[in-house]
Amino acid sequence: MDLPRTVSIIGTGSYVPEKVLTNHDLEKIVETTDEWIHSRTGMRERHIAAPGQASSDLGTEAAKAALADAGIEAGELDLLIVATLSPDMFFPSTACFVQEKIGAKNAYCYDLGAACSGFLFALDAAKNQIASGAVKTALVIGTEKMSTFIDWEDRGTCILFGDGAGAAVLQAGGEGRGIMKSVMGSDGSLADLLWTPGGGSRNPISHEMIDQRQQYLKMRGREVFKHAVVRMTEAVVQALEKNDVGVDEIKCFIPHQANIRIIDAIAKRLGIADRIYTNVEKYANTSSAALAIALDEAVKDGTIQKGDLVALTVFGGGFTWGANVLEWNR
Ligand code: ACO
Repeated sequence: MDLPRTVSIIGTGSYVPEKVLTNHDLEKIVETTDEWIHSRTGMRERHIAAPGQASSDLGTEAAKAALADAGIEAGELDLLIVATLSPDMFFPSTACFVQEKIGAKNAYCYDLGAACSGFLFALDAAKNQIASGAVKTALVIGTEKMSTFIDWEDRGTCILFGDGAGAAVLQAGGEGRGIMKSVMGSDGSLADLLWTPGGGSRNPISHEMIDQRQQYLKMRGREVFKHAVVRMTEAVVQALEKNDVGVDEIKCFIPHQANIRIIDAIAKRLGIADRIYTNVEKYANTSSAALAIALDEAVKDGTIQKGDLVALTVFGGGFTWGANVLEWNR
């Protein structure tokens, strides 16, 4: 077999739960205003999962939509990766729960933990496994029920996040370059700027830990903001260089949907404001699902057309970050 070979996205799908929580609704939960939230984040509303709905349930809906879009059966999948920071439970993997729900009996399944960068990392992992010839068809899902892991008493974080899922089916073959080479990085020295410190083996569940609300996401927003802008901008530049693509050749840039001001700052630095895709106003930050949902919507609403070059970039806790370029070939 000749390597490397083209790996393509042959279908995408996404799902957000029915319940909408607006900024005005948040005014009744914490001391905030629609004006404060919208001016600092670009967000107007987010979707919140029902109490009985877990991340695998959201991911399953996105997966079914992506499989239908690709025109393949779940039984044809060889690999299923779920990127999430809000798994159904510590183990088994959320990917195994999705496998069972969609009937992907022939796939091996695992979760990938890279916080908000997870979908791009998972896309890269699946692409490389297909390019090596190890598997033929893969399903990559980013799914989050962030509403369970945020502190609804902390106005600095609870306004920022939403629930949802997105998915992509990957297969060997296709015209052009398909999914190109990624640039990815991590810096564990900055982990405490954005983390959930309680509930794991470092700081296990105890009455004291819960009284201190350590089971919820903690963030130093200003520091995260600065690093996110620098890392995503650098990653895009490096990914373009690595794939020998000029910034002017890119038809659509899809950044992690964390905050419109982060997105605007990246757009300004790269000179791409006219080509940047955002839906943060509708969904807020859905962590590892955000890129996947935005990609699906950009394809479905016609922003991305066959033959277009698309740049993706992500940033998340860890810190983790990355970028990639796709030649859309369907
Ligand atoms: N409503 C009203 N006032 C608020 C709210 C709120 N929801 N939240 C904070 N404030 C107040 C603060 O208490 C502070 O008041 P003070 O001056 O009296 O102390 C004031 O607003 C300013 O607070 P800052 O935190 O300094 O506000 P800032 O302008 O930095 O905006 C924000 C905060 C929106 C969180 C911003 O820092 C940000 O977007 N950071 C990046 C966050 C992010 O995107 N994280 C995720 C990225 S990676 C991932 O997706 C996991």
